[in-house]
Amino acid sequence: MEIQQIMKGNFSSFMQKEIFEQPESVFNTMRGRINFDNETVVLGGIKDYLSEIRRCRRLLLIACGTSYHSGIATRQLLEELTELPVMVDLASDFLDRNTPIFRDDVCFFISQSGETADTLMALRYCKQRGALIVGITNTVGSSICRESHCGVHINAGPEIGVASTKAYTSQMISLVMFSLMMSEDRISSQPRRSEIIQEFVNRGFMVLELDDTIQEISKAVFEKKSLLVLGRGYNFSTCLEGALKIKEITYMHSEGIMAGELKHGPLALVDEGMPIIMVCTRDNVFTKCMNALQQVTAREGRPIIICNKGDKEPQKFASHVLEVPKTVDCLQGILTVIPMQLLSYHIAVLRGCNVDCPRNLAKSVTVE
Ligand code: G6P
Repeated sequence: MEIQQIMKGNFSSFMQKEIFEQPESVFNTMRGRINFDNETVVLGGIKDYLSEIRRCRRLLLIACGTSYHSGIATRQLLEELTELPVMVDLASDFLDRNTPIFRDDVCFFISQSGETADTLMALRYCKQRGALIVGITNTVGSSICRESHCGVHINAGPEIGVASTKAYTSQMISLVMFSLMMSEDRISSQPRRSEIIQEFVNRGFMVLELDDTIQEISKAVFEKKSLLVLGRGYNFSTCLEGALKIKEITYMHSEGIMAGELKHGPLALVDEGMPIIMVCTRDNVFTKCMNALQQVTAREGRPIIICNKGDKEPQKFASHVLEVPKTVDCLQGILTVIPMQLLSYHIAVLRGCNVDCPRNLAKSVTVE
């Protein structure tokens, strides 16, 4: 670890530094792996296993906490580009269920530290049953790295803040790159692959410029008891991850809610006093999100809305607006999660919490 890399510099906490490092850490994840001219992706750590992976019967993504959310974030693209069934599981629950595992399964273990006990136990369980083990980690030489058959180093650089930020976006990029690699030979997926690869170039990190606006918004909500985060489709993982960040470092109650489930219960919580954030970007579920938004505003809810730049339609109903650049659906989550990371950071500061070392939590949980 280079000493400069782990110094806080001008930032007040490691978490803040790591949030702002994301343009660079995401670039480091892609470095040397994507050829923009012929639109190919090579992940050196798994290329020799690719034909075996292509023959498998299903993919399983197993992880805890934030790393689990990166599996949720990329599941839809994996299904689309690999045409395989994809299961995403929390390591603890996966073990509790004694989940059936077969020799032709490919199991991904996603972990920033590479040492999380639940994830490691799940890895050993699958390995024993003859599945192919793929590690997605940020820590070279970690237990998960060593015990995997093959894998991807996400290369996000050391992450010190207990609440994971840059590891999440780099895990997402790694899994998107894997999907691209898996679909290289399929002619029908070329336009889609091209669209995604070109968007890797136009990374919309101006989203970090929203910092001042987000600080203002946090002043309006930091004294509230609860905060709901609503969205669906590719943005659902942003809701789960945003709510987790808020819980972890601000100690405020927060819940990520699948907008499709709104009418099945959460709607009962909505009134003019309930703080709500809605993620509503222009993708295939935009109309459905607008519908949920109307359900909320009809009950006097005035949400904070995360939407695409210049998109006036959802803004009509907002108490505050956070505009993020538009990108391809499967990468949009990177640009919608960063405002959530910044919001949790500012709320934590206003509430006087220790941002880097939240109470009762550890960076790496090595006990089951
Ligand atoms: C702990 C951390 C979380 C993290 C989770 C999984 O609970 O506090 O921020 O997401 O472990 O960690 P891993 O290192 O496996 O990604």
